[in-house]
Order: sequence, then structure tokens, then C-alpha cells
Amino acid sequence: MLSKLSTVSFSGIETKDVSVEVQIASGLPNFVIVGLPDKSIAESKERIRASFSHVGLTLPPRRIIVNLAPSDLQKEGAHYDLPIALGILAALEVFDKAQLQEYVILGGLSLDALIAPVVGVLAAALMASSSQRGLICPSANSNEASWAGAHLNVLAAPDLVSLVNHFKGACELVAPTPPDVKNKLTPTYGDMRDVRGQSMLKRVFEIAAVGHHNVLMIGPPGAGKSMISQRLMGILPPLSPEEAIETTMIYSLAGMLPEEGLMVQRPFRAPHHSASLVALVGGGIHAKPGEVSLAHNGVLFLDEFPEFSRATLESLRQPLEANTITVSRANQHITYPAKIQLIAAMNPCRCGYYGVPQKECSRAPRCAADYQSKISGPLLDRFDLVVYVPQVPIDDLLPQKKGLLVESSATIQQRVLNAVNFRQQAPTLADDDLLPETQKSLRIFAEKRDLSARSCTRLLKVARSIASLDASVEVRSYHVEEAIHYRYSSPNTYSAIS
Ligand SMILES: Nc1ncnc2c1ncn2[C@@H]1O[C@H](COP(=O)(O)OP(=O)(O)OP(=O)(O)O)[C@@H](O)[C@H]1O
Ligand SMILES: [Mg+2]
Ligand SMILES: [Zn+2]
Repeated sequence: MLSKLSTVSFSGIETKDVSVEVQIASGLPNFVIVGLPDKSIAESKERIRASFSHVGLTLPPRRIIVNLAPSDLQKEGAHYDLPIALGILAALEVFDKAQLQEYVILGGLSLDALIAPVVGVLAAALMASSSQRGLICPSANSNEASWAGAHLNVLAAPDLVSLVNHFKGACELVAPTPPDVKNKLTPTYGDMRDVRGQSMLKRVFEIAAVGHHNVLMIGPPGAGKSMISQRLMGILPPLSPEEAIETTMIYSLAGMLPEEGLMVQRPFRAPHHSASLVALVGGGIHAKPGEVSLAHNGVLFLDEFPEFSRATLESLRQPLEANTITVSRANQHITYPAKIQLIAAMNPCRCGYYGVPQKECSRAPRCAADYQSKISGPLLDRFDLVVYVPQVPIDDLLPQKKGLLVESSATIQQRVLNAVNFRQQAPTLADDDLLPETQKSLRIFAEKRDLSARSCTRLLKVARSIASLDASVEVRSYHVEEAIHYRYSSPNTYSAIS
């Protein structure tokens, strides 16, 4: 007796078709799973046995062979329990096995035959949808599966018995519907209005929001660096539906999805500087996306930037350039998406007050030189904007300053959206189409500072964002000059950085 059905294997957010073949033959009672299963899949035999006995079934005293094909692909994860169990039931002709053909099946099993939630359901659902098949998944993952589109036939079952009853025609499972996520769009971060003074920093953040530029902030304690970073979320354009699906796939694989099964807001990740390299880049024994991927299509905020280990900081170079991160495991490489906007904050020196008027740095200038040198040249090269954030004058902090216009996040976000829309609609001009005056100011500055090609490209990108805020199709020399100002004019006390 033979049955064959489809499940999935994951490499990052990529999916591969895996077929589960079950043969039940006469011979000494035995139950083996072949096809490079990892330990957790090998253990699924015990969960299947226990679930079957819970519902009053016993495995036949025969030879049960389960083959996971292709046989040269390493398989891992907890989602093979359900397809193997269904394969055995189909081979035993408990129901008509032809019914399983049009599904991709994944799910875990508990000892009492409940179907346990698993990771990666949205990616599997999209795979099923693209090959015109349906999906069988745990009911705990049904919200997530429903985001693959209304046309996808989803069977989300709470337990093995209801699934078997469905196939026997005894009791039909109803298709899940996408939950309402509108009420989830309320912001969880503060408003830009709370940030007093710091007008240049706010302008920098507005420009950064238009072009998703990376920002490094250097300044003394309590200047508002952490405060403004959290508020960036309120001025960024909302996630597009495609971005939401991609980000959701990552959170699904990490087992971190909210109940509604969809990421509706850009992620903001702020790992502590003591976070391990694996926590940051991903991988590890159970191959999980790391912080750089959890921040995909959103913001990675690294506070006290030089305090991160050198290995951690250098690992950011790939995602900042390629928008992906590749992690090596025992015998394979896994690539996760990692399109991040990096916002980093640091004090000018370890004690925090180097170069601050009326404050003393006890070990100047070594204190600053040592601290700033932790940021390598190539890493620094990847920041589009590097700004010095001074302490806020007390006058700016006092709330009732007359005539002071403090803009809300909503106002700033509207300008950002206008700029982004303008750029999308304006005819795109190639970089070699620059106005002669713009080329000239760019060349003069690049030669004076001996800029790398990457720095030049990034400078021009910032200038383009500034031009879009100006609703200007052309990048003018004053746009370039403003971009230069926000990247290359930290006070000369910050020699290592500027
Ligand atoms: N520009 C500002 N406007 C209003 N409040 C501010 C401002 N800057 C700082 N504060 C107040 O000071 C607190 C500390 O600011 P924040 O944590 O952002 O400083 P920081 O620059 O990140 O300092 P550190 O270098 O110590 O991390 C804020 O929570 C806020 O209450
Ligand atoms: Mg801070
Ligand atoms: Zn110091």
C-alpha cells in the first residue's frame, strides 16, 4: 500500500517542494523515515504513534517506510508530523487518498492528536497558491495562511480527527477568512512633536525617511538620540502590501507573528549591544532569522553603536550593501532578506562628554579617538547621513516658548509621502544626466575629500531625496551641498568620524 503527498522545506524564506511517500508492506513490524530527516523529524514517529493511539488507532504490525524526496535535501522542522501521519492514514485507506493530491500539507502533532502550530505557513501558502494547489495547515496558523489570497483553498484543522472526518465527508472544515487588521494600525511609538529643538536632526530624519537612508548620530548623553529614533516610525511611508507579505514571512519563520498573522507596520528592532552574532544575523542550530532580517523593510536601531562587538558590526556590511544576509551552517548557506534602514547612535567618547562645552572628558583626546575608531572605514562608508547632535538648549525644552512651531509626525509624514510619490511619478533621470552645475559641485567635493565611489553614490542618493522633498526633478547643486552638510560636517573634534 502506497501513498504520496506534498509538503515543503524552507531555506530562508525560499520554499522547496518535498514529497512524502509512505509504503506499508508485509515484513517485520518496523517504522522508518528516510531522506535526510533531522532529529526532530525522526522523533515524529513517536508523536504519530501517540496521536494514533489517542484516537484509538494502532499502527499496523507491518513495515512502514516513509521517504522524504528529494533524498539529497536535508530536511528539518516540526511541520513534517502531519504530512507523514496523513500519508500513513491514506496508505491504510482510511479515506480516499486522491483527495490529498491537490494540497501542500504542513503541521505538527501533539501526543493527544491536536495539530500543533508551525513556522513558515505563509511561505508554504504562497508556494501552494503559485502552483494552483490548496493548503492543509494547523488552525492556529489559519489567519496567516489567509493572507496568501482569497483564491487559496485552505483547510485549517484543529486536530487529526476533524481532518480525517473532513476527508471521509463526515464533517466539513470551513475556510478561514482574513481577520480585520485596521485596528492594529494605531501607533505604538511617540510623536515627533515631543522632540524639542534639534531642528537639523529632524530635517535629517525627514530626508532619511524619504530615501530610507542610514543615519549615524553622535552626541552627548540625553540629547534625544534614542528619542527621535523611535519616532522615525511615525514619519516613514506605510508598508506596501508586498512589503507586508515579505516581512510577515520572516516573522512567520521566526515564530514571532502577532495573532492576526500579518505584519501591518514597519518593524523597529533595537537589539542590545550585548546581543550575540547569531541573534543579530540569524542562523544557529534551528536556523532562525536574526535581528537584521526581523528589521527587513523597517528600521534597525543600534544604540551605543561602538559597544557592539567588532564581529557584529562587520557583519552588517553585507546587508547594508546587498539587502540580504547569508549565514553558513554545517553544510549549507541560508540567505534571508535584510533590507534595513540602519539608525545608529553613539556618544563622542566612552565617558560621553568629549567636545561638549562646560563638560569634561577625563581622558581627552584618547578617549574619543579610541572610541570612534571602533567604527571601521567600510562601515562608516555605508552611512548616508552622519550628524552631530548637540545638547538641547534649556530654552528649547521649555514647553511654552512663544511662536514656536512644533510639527507633528503626521505633518512630517505627509511631506515624506509627497516626496516619495513625486519621485515615483517624476521621469527618472539617470545619474549621468546630472546638471553641469551639480556635476561640478559633486566633483569638486569628491576630489577634495577623496571620496570612494560608494560614498559618492550615497551622497547623490541623499541629494535626490532632498530634491524630491523640494518637488524638483533635477538635482541642483544646493541639494548636493545640503547632503554634504549632513554627512561631512561634524565638528572637527570628531576627527575619526568626519
Ligand atoms: N530634544 C529633546 N526634546 C525633549 N526631550 C528630550 C530631548 N532630548 C532628550 N530629552 C529627554 O531626555 C530623555 C533622554 O533622551 P534620549 O534617551 O533620547 O537621549 P540620548 O541622546 O539617547 O542619550 P544617551 O547618549 O545617553 O543614550 C528623553 O527621554 C527625553 O525625556
Ligand atoms: Mg540613547
Ligand atoms: Zn571621554
